[in-house]
Amino acid sequence: MTTDLNTIFRIKDPLIFTIFGASGDLAKLKIFPALFALAEQKRFPQKLAIVGYARSEKSQAEFRADFSSSVKKNYKENWGDYQNQILESLLDNVHYFSGQYDDLQDYKKFKNFLADTLACNALPQHLMYFSVPPFVVKPILTQVADVFEPKENDVRLILEKPFGNNEESASHLFSFLNQHYRESQLYFLDHYLGKKAVRSLIPLRHMNRILNSMLKGREIANIQISAIEPMGVGERVGYFDEVGTIKDVVQSHLLQVLAMITMSIPIDDDAERVQEERASILKALDFEPDVNHLAIGQYDGYLKEDEKVSESVTETFAALRLSINRETWHDVPIFLRTGKKLDSKHTYLVVELKKFSFQNEAQEPNRVIIEFYPRECIQIRLLDEDGATLRQGEIAASESIACYGDYCLPEHGLLLLDVVRGEKRFFLGMPEIKASWHIIDKVINFMEAEKLKPEIYPPESKGPDSQHNLMKGTKFTWYQPK
Ligand code: BG6
Repeated sequence: MTTDLNTIFRIKDPLIFTIFGASGDLAKLKIFPALFALAEQKRFPQKLAIVGYARSEKSQAEFRADFSSSVKKNYKENWGDYQNQILESLLDNVHYFSGQYDDLQDYKKFKNFLADTLACNALPQHLMYFSVPPFVVKPILTQVADVFEPKENDVRLILEKPFGNNEESASHLFSFLNQHYRESQLYFLDHYLGKKAVRSLIPLRHMNRILNSMLKGREIANIQISAIEPMGVGERVGYFDEVGTIKDVVQSHLLQVLAMITMSIPIDDDAERVQEERASILKALDFEPDVNHLAIGQYDGYLKEDEKVSESVTETFAALRLSINRETWHDVPIFLRTGKKLDSKHTYLVVELKKFSFQNEAQEPNRVIIEFYPRECIQIRLLDEDGATLRQGEIAASESIACYGDYCLPEHGLLLLDVVRGEKRFFLGMPEIKASWHIIDKVINFMEAEKLKPEIYPPESKGPDSQHNLMKGTKFTWYQPK
């Protein structure tokens, strides 16, 4: 099934969508294509202004050309006449404003620019997307709070991770935000919550007792989440070297996936309840400061990415072993790993179920496997007896999570639509972010105290050997998708 253009949700008139950091990679790679996808599904109102705000001097024509080429380059489906037409008419609504991030006067001019562009006096629904490095977030928030009177207007802020750099800085950011904005205006975005397979965990667990009863701590032998990628850090080396992969990928993406699979089922669909449940399980996470609970690696060649990183010990690979401090979960090890410049692109979650005492070691365990990439699907692997041989069967709970309605949108498209609807289930609440930092701070403190150096691994490999130390003393191994 595909999108039925007659029944879809349309955004009401008028709408301003501002992108701070419109010249950056994230905007080009994810945001412009997501906006195009919304236009393609005819979601936008007549009165629409998509405005790029950035420091570089650029004409409207240049910005439109950038916007257009980014969309064409990153569009995942076939491009034809229909797409050309949609893009042409969308470009009429695309504008550029060049300003400094910390100059109040520029924001005042920007406000007038918006009023002229949309030809309306009252401020309409205004979505502000932050596609900027963490150190400019606060200056922008400060000026926006002064000029746009957000508490009195329909301003919604979409902030991408990382939210701060540790628990303390995240807390500072939140108290600043709470002073100047209403919490309902804040959307903390982690694009993993825009992935269809991650989102579908809530209805799957809500509506399927069969599946849900397998996902209880007492039934589970271990949980593994892997996000493997072949790309290196490329042009993002400046940002990446500051943070490293633990803060870049584990802190939010992998912990959110973990929370979605282990949290108690919320009593209803209310966003607050969902966020509370995720926060509650994240608060229960624990990390044992021990070399067999953390492995870090760096790909060979990383030091040559830029002369500024020629002596860096930043990790491009990390594997962590965590536990959950809860009665039913305490003996279920959680293994997380992620790395760059590996041999494939694969993102998946494996819940390995306990075996019966009479099963022998050679037998595979039952597994629930949720793949996020390259397929988005959920599999349940069972064993059955076929004559004298044991056969491994696969029950596909969902062979592939089909594209229909909103689900035909890319991650950021879905999430932007959520913002317009005021739907916050798939955005992070402040307590969850703080809880995630809390555990990550513990890992980072251990790394720093032990002065751990990353193990160098060859590009296009499976990563450092030390990742296997995490399984020491268990009968488990890292699961490799078939
Ligand atoms: C981003 C990280 O948030 O997620 C990148 O900054 C990482 O370093 C990316 O490559 C992974 O996302 P996905 O959707 O490709 O798994």
